Amino acid sequence: MKVIVTTGQKVTESLIERAKMIADKLNVQFVFRNNDSVELIKRSSKADIIIVVTKQRIVAYTDEGELFFHLNMAQLRIQNIDRGQVDHMAMAMHLKKGMSVLDCTLGMGTDAIVASYIVGVEGKVVGVENSEVTSFIVKNGLEEFCVENVRLEKALKQIEVVQADYNQYLLSLPDKTFDVVYFDPMFRHPLKESVALKPLRAVADHRPIELQALKEAKRVARKYVVVKENRRSKEFERLFIENIVGGKYSNINYGVIQVGDENRKSNYNYWTNCCWKNKS
Ligand SMILES: C[S@@+](CC[C@H](N)C(=O)[O-])C[C@H]1O[C@@H](n2cnc3c(N)ncnc32)[C@H](O)[C@@H]1O
Repeated sequence: MKVIVTTGQKVTESLIERAKMIADKLNVQFVFRNNDSVELIKRSSKADIIIVVTKQRIVAYTDEGELFFHLNMAQLRIQNIDRGQVDHMAMAMHLKKGMSVLDCTLGMGTDAIVASYIVGVEGKVVGVENSEVTSFIVKNGLEEFCVENVRLEKALKQIEVVQADYNQYLLSLPDKTFDVVYFDPMFRHPLKESVALKPLRAVADHRPIELQALKEAKRVARKYVVVKENRRSKEFERLFIENIVGGKYSNINYGVIQVGDENRKSNYNYWTNCCWKNKS
């Protein structure tokens, strides 16, 4: 996949310097904008992805649309959590203040932001992302995005982004490093309504979770391994995950493995408003 970096139309010396530094960091070519359209640059340079650096933000132009950091659903989910509503991911993870979470599939960081907000400054969230373009954009966004909500701002800033393949990264970690290890792979059957994830598809790692990775995740997790999947997917069966939870009307389910006790429904009382789909 050929990636190049350029600037927005409004150029200054400092913007060019910044764009060049980003190109160096990503080890890709920098191209002067020269007032050309992104489309023209894309065609003439035969690039798949053009990263455009402007004063306000960094945008990756892909065939599936523009990829840039934004809070997505994180802000709404956090508002709902603050109002006392259930967040099914947080429930599946049994998240509490002070916990540590390894998000193996960071993507645009929405789930990691929600997790970081709940675990707070006493906790820790590390997000692993294999796509260099995505991890760069999200890392930069988490560092630079400004929000009025101080707790949310802290939640963004404390997420540690690691550009790596989780298969390798998990192998490098000692036993029981994180309370929760989380996977949200690219859905085997993409949900039609997830338009926000469309540009991500152009740069994402689409491989399914290997059983070996799940085994490593169980070694690295102290409490839970959680896998998010489309309700209609057969992935839970393939991965031998039996405890499945999710909102009654949601297309999304979470497979929950309680480490050391995989066959037991974990803490049933915790699941108010949740429906169990235990097949055992
Ligand atoms: C569905 S998205 C995750 C969305 C994320 N949960 C969010 O809230 O924005 C899946 C992401 O996992 C990444 N991914 C898939 N396999 C990976 C791997 N082996 N190592 C690291 N990242 C991976 C993909 O590149 C993609 O960005």
